[in-house]
Amino acid sequence: MKLTGNTSAIGSANWRTTYSKTNKRKPKAMQLFLDSSDPKEILTAREWGVIDGVTTNPSLIAKSGTEMEAALRAVLEASPGPVFCQVIGWKEVEPLVAQARWLNAFSDRIIVKIPMGVAGITAVRQLKQENPKIKLAVTAVSTVAQAILVAKARADIVAIFNGPLDLEQDEPVRIVAPIRAIYDRSGFTTKILSAGRFPRSFGEYAADGTDIITLRMEFMKQLFEHAFTDKRVRGFLNDWEKAFGDKTWPAGPRPAAKRKRL
Ligand code: E4P
Repeated sequence: MKLTGNTSAIGSANWRTTYSKTNKRKPKAMQLFLDSSDPKEILTAREWGVIDGVTTNPSLIAKSGTEMEAALRAVLEASPGPVFCQVIGWKEVEPLVAQARWLNAFSDRIIVKIPMGVAGITAVRQLKQENPKIKLAVTAVSTVAQAILVAKARADIVAIFNGPLDLEQDEPVRIVAPIRAIYDRSGFTTKILSAGRFPRSFGEYAADGTDIITLRMEFMKQLFEHAFTDKRVRGFLNDWEKAFGDKTWPAGPRPAAKRKRL
């Protein structure tokens, strides 16, 4: 059954990276996804106007406690764009292929996530051969070498786990830049998705040329915050209050539309 919804962003036909004859990527805004299976959380982030879609994974679906199809339906309804959904399995090709076909038939806004490995890469190759339009991501990618295999299999997206790895190894994992350089040089159209964590690495992934960053809500909230921002904004309000007390502004009605703008 196909669900209808907003198929903008990377769900539409023009979401693929396009190349000019000189193999230069056309400028395109980086996209921000929420990593969540909670419709309330998704709607909150959507209200902020900053998310382009949603990523899920088996851990998030399990946490929701909702059965897979119902959970997916709720996420699709809440998401403003594409939804990543991971197949369950890892080492055997056939279950990965069967679930990918099912997910693709369920909604054309789904991007099927397949875990990295020999079976995963084989499944991507097979699925792309039978249906070039199916949208596939390879997930849990941790090295530049794996990212090259993903692009060679013609996956649409490589989901690199730079943020989680960064924490696990307690050092910055800068693999976006080399992957970006290799993809651009080779003409690979596979998009790079980074799993984000803290604001520092978020900025680095963006600057290094990632196409999409996905973040859990706890990390997305941190993007809005900085101690210096708080200090300065509090300072503005304190200075105002010292001079004008609790007087708000503007006091009167909005300027008439006809009034000459200064
Ligand atoms: C990305 O698409 C994943 O859903 C996600 O980032 C998984 O990694 P994490 O839960 O360690 O962030």
